[in-house]
Amino acid sequence: MKPSEIRNELLEQHQGLRVRIEQAREVVTRCQRGEDAREDLHRALVHVADAVRMHNQREEELMRDVLPTLDAWGHVRKEVMLEEHVVEHSEIFNALMQATSGKDLKEAAATALTLFEQMLQHMEREEKVFLGADLLSDFGAPPDTFGG
Ligand SMILES: [Fe+2]
Ligand SMILES: [Fe+2]
Repeated sequence: MKPSEIRNELLEQHQGLRVRIEQAREVVTRCQRGEDAREDLHRALVHVADAVRMHNQREEELMRDVLPTLDAWGHVRKEVMLEEHVVEHSEIFNALMQATSGKDLKEAAATALTLFEQMLQHMEREEKVFLGADLLSDFGAPPDTFGG
């Protein structure tokens, strides 16, 4: 697979995740307004969780070998990605648990909202740190490009 193809596939999945997060946020807003939408919140979180699980698996599969070859910081980028995925999965689980348990619905909604913010930031970071067109280029990475 060419770096540009990997980049396109993962960016497309990020867009899909953003759409699901946006849909789930609408449910969160309803809960915050006092509507009894616990089932909808749970369903929306399950949709987000399914998409993120599939995406992270694919991202790890595609980037595991590519990242270390990109530049001197490739190993660090890989470690950051894997570590953030572990945290992300446990936070999704926590948000799901709160939505299904007897936890106050507004509190569960607030937890979901925090989760969504973190997910959006994670994707933004990835798009800077390893999904940039300059780094994931079919013509090789520029000499020194960590961070941004
Ligand atoms: Fe990721
Ligand atoms: Fe990602």
